Amino acid sequence: MKQIFITGHGGPEKLQLRESPDPTPGRGEIRIRVKASGINFADILARQGLYPDSPKSPCVVGYEVSGVVDAVGAGADASWTGKETLALTRFGGYSDVVVVPLRQVFEKPGSISHEQAAAIPVNYLTAWQLLVVMGALKPKETVLIHNAGGGVGLAGIDIARHVGATIFGTASSGKHAFLKQRGLHEAIDYRTKDWTVELNKLTRGKGVALITDPIGGNHWKKSYKALRSTGRLGMFGVSAATTSKLFGPLRMLPVALGMPFFHPIPLLNSNKSVFGVNLGHMWHEGEMVANWTQVLLEGVAEGWVRPHVDKTFPLARAGEAHAYIEERKNIGKVVLVT
Ligand SMILES: NC(=O)c1ccc[n+]([C@@H]2O[C@H](COP(=O)([O-])OP(=O)(O)OC[C@H]3O[C@@H](n4cnc5c(N)ncnc54)[C@H](OP(=O)(O)O)[C@@H]3O)[C@@H](O)[C@H]2O)c1
Repeated sequence: MKQIFITGHGGPEKLQLRESPDPTPGRGEIRIRVKASGINFADILARQGLYPDSPKSPCVVGYEVSGVVDAVGAGADASWTGKETLALTRFGGYSDVVVVPLRQVFEKPGSISHEQAAAIPVNYLTAWQLLVVMGALKPKETVLIHNAGGGVGLAGIDIARHVGATIFGTASSGKHAFLKQRGLHEAIDYRTKDWTVELNKLTRGKGVALITDPIGGNHWKKSYKALRSTGRLGMFGVSAATTSKLFGPLRMLPVALGMPFFHPIPLLNSNKSVFGVNLGHMWHEGEMVANWTQVLLEGVAEGWVRPHVDKTFPLARAGEAHAYIEERKNIGKVVLVT
């Protein structure tokens, strides 16, 4: 099989193609001939040495694939052979063959391509946990989605639209027209303007009911302030760390120093709540995550889950795909194809 390894911490050149014998599925596992692998921002953080959950390098990252089952292990239902699937992988997704426990595998809806299927698991499950499960978003409520143009952001727009909420989003300005077509009500260019001022104008000083924030550090303080009473802040990433001018483990320092501390008394008196989401720490809740996945796959059939693939790159050119995302060029998902 062919795999893309992170060979050390650094730039996209640290991604290298290597070949090794095909793996054999063990008990309860199946083997998938991968057609498409989703790229997530966490993979970039792993390459840069900023992702604590990453295996030690050299390693193969990748949390999701779509492809065709070609072998099943002992105890796994043989009827899976030949089925088109999508799967969550606990790393190892940047490969043309993966072996996965059957509980992490789902049938691919026939109406979407393998590329689109690989764009569903991480983005939509994260957005579902943020907006619906923990954020409890309700019809007519207001939500602010930061990085609305990223993979999780676009998934969040689909879900908030399905709920019937009013959706505000921050994104680079070149993405605004597309995001509005997708259902974003108001787009804020957070790179040239102070988004807190813009949001204040849009909500006439009231703030919003829910904010999803993957930027981290001091940014979480601003988001917390921008909530109205009964508002919820969902924190789920620290992409601010990539902009740090420091080196090595010190790169996290500005983000760590800027982080808010939420004391119960001010929380109580302001009628606000804060919560964290890390899908990568939900493996022990497989049944719960599988149930969310089923809802989302029904959403594909119902038409409200609309995975958008911005660009595909051949597996061997994973480094170019990383650079494309780091240059903030992507709207929605970037996918590796075999
Ligand atoms: N906790 C979880 O379970 C979980 C799961 C998935 C993702 N995440 C986090 O959610 C965030 C978005 O992930 P994603 O996969 O949706 O991202 P993505 O599709 O790779 O989107 C990247 C976009 O984020 C924006 N961005 C913001 N800060 C950036 C930076 N420092 N460098 C480059 N781009 C930056 C850029 O768009 P604009 O300039 O237009 O804003 C860029 O196009 C990341 O922080 C990721 O770690 C967390």
